[in-house]
Amino acid sequence: MTAVPAFDDTRAPGPRHVAIIMDGNGRWAKRRHMPRVLGHQRGVEAVRRTVRAAAELGLSALTLYAFSTENWRRPEDEVSALMGLLKHFILSDLDEFARNNIRLKVIGNIGAFAPDIIEMIEQARDRTAANTGMIMAVALNYGSQDEIARAARAAAAKGAITPETISAELDTADLPPLDMIIRTSGEVRLSNFLMWQAAYAEMLFLDVLWPDFGKDHLEAAIAEYTRRERRFGGR
Ligand code: FPP
Repeated sequence: MTAVPAFDDTRAPGPRHVAIIMDGNGRWAKRRHMPRVLGHQRGVEAVRRTVRAAAELGLSALTLYAFSTENWRRPEDEVSALMGLLKHFILSDLDEFARNNIRLKVIGNIGAFAPDIIEMIEQARDRTAANTGMIMAVALNYGSQDEIARAARAAAAKGAITPETISAELDTADLPPLDMIIRTSGEVRLSNFLMWQAAYAEMLFLDVLWPDFGKDHLEAAIAEYTRRERRFGGR
């Protein structure tokens, strides 16, 4: 029984922590005969809409898969465009986060990024560290296998390796348990995202491309979550 997470049925029925695999920017652009980077630009607008909506809908945490450990294999100009968009997003939206009590967090290993990006991320994190509202966790140079390996090493250095000691070393250790993963674009894969945390999460695969995602989709996803019965392996 001890491995079964406690289910607190006294809390509101909606999800507290939702994570999103933001997929389909390239296909969105291709359908319009536009360069891929324009799809990513529209993807950032969807990020902005979704963060606002998630806070309005009362989520405690929203985790977004922005750059995976595998994304380095994309063409250099696409990687640098994504870095540019990330920088621009932090510069343009940080004030709004700070005002709206949102705490910014990063999961993944950002040590691989350029020094100016690392500094910017750290400043954004520090500036919002005392905020008590929704946590927006951005997965950057994130891969679940890498995260689990790092967590297992850290747990081993301290003593026993158990599900609990590994969980305590994950990048998400200070976030509420993951309730739901949404993937856009119709692909039905986890792609190395939150595989440990997904053990009991609901999964929702939507046929919408990420740049078209908005508050209505998030609301519908939350409603779908609330309809599903979650038993954590029990009966
Ligand atoms: C997947 O679309 C999307 C990504 C690899 C990057 C997601 C990044 C953003 C939405 C913008 C930056 C994020 C922030 C937080 C500012 P794809 O290119 O794989 O699409 P495709 O499968 O249709 O080609």
